[in-house]
Amino acid sequence: MSFRKRAQLLVLLVAGPAFTEPLWQWLSERGGDGCVEGKSVGGLRGLAVKKAVKKGEVILQVPLRCTLGDGCKRGDSGDETPVAAGPDWAKKLPWNVQLALGVLERQKDPEWSAFLDSWSAAPALPKDLEEEELEEAQDEDLEVKAGGTFFWLEDRYEDAREAYEAAQSNSFPWSEEDFRWALAHVWSRCLRLDLGSQRRRLLVPLLDLGNHDSNPSASFEHLPSERAVCLVALRDMQPEDAVTYSYGEHPNEHFLLYYGFVPAENPYDFVNVTFSKVLSFLPGYDETLDLKEFGGVLLRANAPDVSLLQVLHAVLREAGDDDAAAQARVLRAIAQVCRGLEQEYPTTAEEDEAILRDPSKSGLSAGAVTLVQWRLSRKQLLRRLGKSMEELAKLMEEDQELAERKLKAAVTGRSSTARRAAARGGGSSGSL
Ligand SMILES: *[C@@H]1O[C@H](CO)[C@@H](O)[C@H](O)[C@H]1NC(C)=O
Repeated sequence: MSFRKRAQLLVLLVAGPAFTEPLWQWLSERGGDGCVEGKSVGGLRGLAVKKAVKKGEVILQVPLRCTLGDGCKRGDSGDETPVAAGPDWAKKLPWNVQLALGVLERQKDPEWSAFLDSWSAAPALPKDLEEEELEEAQDEDLEVKAGGTFFWLEDRYEDAREAYEAAQSNSFPWSEEDFRWALAHVWSRCLRLDLGSQRRRLLVPLLDLGNHDSNPSASFEHLPSERAVCLVALRDMQPEDAVTYSYGEHPNEHFLLYYGFVPAENPYDFVNVTFSKVLSFLPGYDETLDLKEFGGVLLRANAPDVSLLQVLHAVLREAGDDDAAAQARVLRAIAQVCRGLEQEYPTTAEEDEAILRDPSKSGLSAGAVTLVQWRLSRKQLLRRLGKSMEELAKLMEEDQELAERKLKAAVTGRSSTARRAAARGGGSSGSL
């Protein structure tokens, strides 16, 4: 049996029945249409197509009036816009808090129960972990951010309670736990979409069950003629194929903090280090350099920041270097920095991989295991970048023109990818 056949058989065995039938009934009564369903494959919930589809086909269409949007305007929405979710008294609160409160208000509303009942438990996020578990990230900065998110939520809960009690005569009906549940779902499910002149954040039934992929099988769009949000196939698909879309060009840290997972592949990931940290791995540089203005530099999987290349070029150039030799020196220095950064971690990539092969043996909680995945992704990125910088340094000495072309392509590769207007997801800043 071919590998592909075996893989398909395995999928058939472990895929549970579609859990989205009640949701489909609710949606089709309101004009929704499509050929996707919710499936659990190997314990991971997601969307799949029910039949073969062609690239460019609309595979799901959800009317705007079945979606919940940010904002508090009520009563004038009609079919043209999403249902503004926020309660009137929440007008002054951040958009994601408004949406979360709108969700809580509708939890017992039969009109919305088919949608809101389709949500499972909120994803486990680093902000909910104990300090000891958080240490598995092996990164103080991440621990601080997770803690910050926890307290940000606590403050927003107090704001919401005060706003409610100023406007109503009774006391706030939701616990902090309810609020955290709703906001975690808003973070991980909401889509940003341009609706004509307006950019809105939307909760979209059924569509919100799609998993992230940086090389997705579908994309979501506004379909003005149908007053709907839709999913369009980006390639031909067979029945049962997973329907995925991109949640946006975020680094792994963002996926971890607000969605609770680490993508397997992510061309937009980076490791953010300070300039002085970079130089600390390069003995012999001029210690009097004032590098504060450079702040963080980003090490991406394909190439570092252009500013890092430039500054290192100035710092490391030696008398007698021709241009190719100077560039090779810079590339080797970056490889050295990558090795240094990787070696600073208390565990090796191989030890992390061993934990992930059999997480139950490690005694770690599910949330802590996700942090192990994240820290491994750091090490892998550094290793990959280091290796490609070494190779490029060698090439620089052999064929400078070709090496420069490759380096340029790697450095500019990211900015030349098409910018998507749409993205999914949240963040505590409220600015997303
Ligand atoms: C990188 O880190 C610095 C702080 O060291 C921060 O100011 C900057 O915003 C970070 N950059 C990104 C893209 O996260």
